[in-house]
Amino acid sequence: MANLTIRNLQKGFDGHQIIKGIDLDVKDREFVVFVGPSGCGKSTLLRLIAGLEDVTSGSIELDGREITQVTPAKRDLAMVFQTYALYPHMTVGKNLSFALDLAGTPKDEVKKKVDEAARILELGPLLERKPKQLSGGQRQRVAIGRAIVRNPKIFLFDEPLSNLDAALRVQTRLELSRLHKELQATMIYVTHDQVEAMTLADKVVVLNGGRVEQVGSPLELYHHPANLFVAGFLGTPKMGFLKGIISGVEASACEVTLDAGTKVLLPFTNAQQSVGDSVTLGIRPEHLELANEGDCQLTVIADVSERLGSDTYCHVRTTSGEPLTMRIRGDLASQYGETLKLHLNSAHCHLFDAQGQVIRRALQAAA
Ligand SMILES: Nc1ncnc2c1ncn2[C@@H]1O[C@H](COP(=O)(O)OP(=O)(O)O)[C@@H](O)[C@H]1O
Ligand SMILES: [Mg+2]
Repeated sequence: MANLTIRNLQKGFDGHQIIKGIDLDVKDREFVVFVGPSGCGKSTLLRLIAGLEDVTSGSIELDGREITQVTPAKRDLAMVFQTYALYPHMTVGKNLSFALDLAGTPKDEVKKKVDEAARILELGPLLERKPKQLSGGQRQRVAIGRAIVRNPKIFLFDEPLSNLDAALRVQTRLELSRLHKELQATMIYVTHDQVEAMTLADKVVVLNGGRVEQVGSPLELYHHPANLFVAGFLGTPKMGFLKGIISGVEASACEVTLDAGTKVLLPFTNAQQSVGDSVTLGIRPEHLELANEGDCQLTVIADVSERLGSDTYCHVRTTSGEPLTMRIRGDLASQYGETLKLHLNSAHCHLFDAQGQVIRRALQAAA
């Protein structure tokens, strides 16, 4: 069992607050990813969990036992870093067994654990090699193997794929997903890469400036971002944003007049909302399409197109100069400088208030 409970966790360095009151639950066997821009406090939060930093205030519990003041070695957690930190003079096998040998684990048990880790990570043929005789990906697998032999309650990963080239990063990402299923382990994984977060996580924790912006499954966050930050952070190409004001409010809908000129009737409601309020409408690239007659139309001027083969990203600007990206079929493209009419499908629009918080859809709000 491994259930982690974090309550009102705060951490400052030299009077500078970095972690600003975080509440979080990690459930047994969950793959939780902390994602956020560089410097937002991801590594610090992970190091607080590992016990490598002292907390300023707040509590950390593992399976109901308070571990806030417990030394790292006694927390039953294993951390894998971006830099592999292998012992250069030891073979792969020795790197794997070192911690167990040091703890006085019986020899046959050490062998069993090392063999099992080597099997899972396909390191068998490499056990006699030294780290310098390995590729970056193989070294990272050894570092993960060192964590596996310790059979920790929770695996902690801090950007473990950052030093790998793009192809190897994708491959190792898949291996980590498989490893999580095979070990049925609890894992906490830190990354600034939203694709890693989306593909690996059961639960994504979006961090920004030492606070949690939103917690949820990848698709919950993708389809129902709670605020502009999460909406803009998850998804490539990014969600497009159009500024406007509320020009009409009905029981279960509101009319938004965009700076770009278009009026959109949206099934959104919020008792706080009134005519004249500033709002931002969000729409994802895959939800923009050329308009048909009768559609709610937005006039844009085509900028460059990027043709990826499978898809084309058409970059466009509204008449008020706001950039948007439209994702279309790979065999199509827009012409630079041409005027296009796009369909603003209200079913796919997100709406945010002046503070950047989402305004819920009418049905969601009533629920
Ligand atoms: N030991 C430290 N002393 C002082 N400031 C630190 C220390 N560790 C981290 N910080 C600061 O805390 C902030 C968050 O750092 P970090 O958790 O490493 O961010 P992330 O991993 O999200 O990129 C940064 O501004 C960093 O400079
Ligand atoms: Mg970091």
